[in-house]
Amino acid sequence: MEILRHIVVFVHITGFAILFGAWAAQAWGGKRQITGLMNVGLAIAAVAGLVLAAPWGVEYDLNYVKIGVKLVVLLIIGALMGIGQARGRRSGSVPPPLFWSIGVLTLLNAGIAVIWR
Ligand code: HEM
Repeated sequence: MEILRHIVVFVHITGFAILFGAWAAQAWGGKRQITGLMNVGLAIAAVAGLVLAAPWGVEYDLNYVKIGVKLVVLLIIGALMGIGQARGRRSGSVPPPLFWSIGVLTLLNAGIAVIWR
């Protein structure tokens, strides 16, 4: 069970890496658009995160306040990505505050995950 949970954490972190990597590639040298790969990373992180939030029956305390905060931040990231994608399609560019917020909030969630115990 413990090994399985570690594998799901690994999948979860991979989702984060895909989301942040795709965003960073757009931020530095890219067109600062919301890409399909960012959606894929967010979806992987979200599904694996929800699986991790379930009671696993192992000696391991879940911090539900922390998980709730991460879920809210993830939903905000998803909303910003949806709005950004629609704006990008309509006007050709994503408003900079919206684009940068996605990267900052993604890092914030990783920071919360690692620093808040
Ligand atoms: C963009 C969104 C997210 C990012 C960047 C992110 C990042 C991370 C990272 C880096 C870890 C590994 C931390 C460690 O093992 O020390 C982690 C663990 C975890 N994440 Fe997320 N996460 C996100 C969304 C979510 C969501 C939406 C949930 C649940 C609703 C969630 C639940 C968890 C749980 C339960 C763990 C297990 C480790 C722990 O909290 O102690 N995450 N996350």
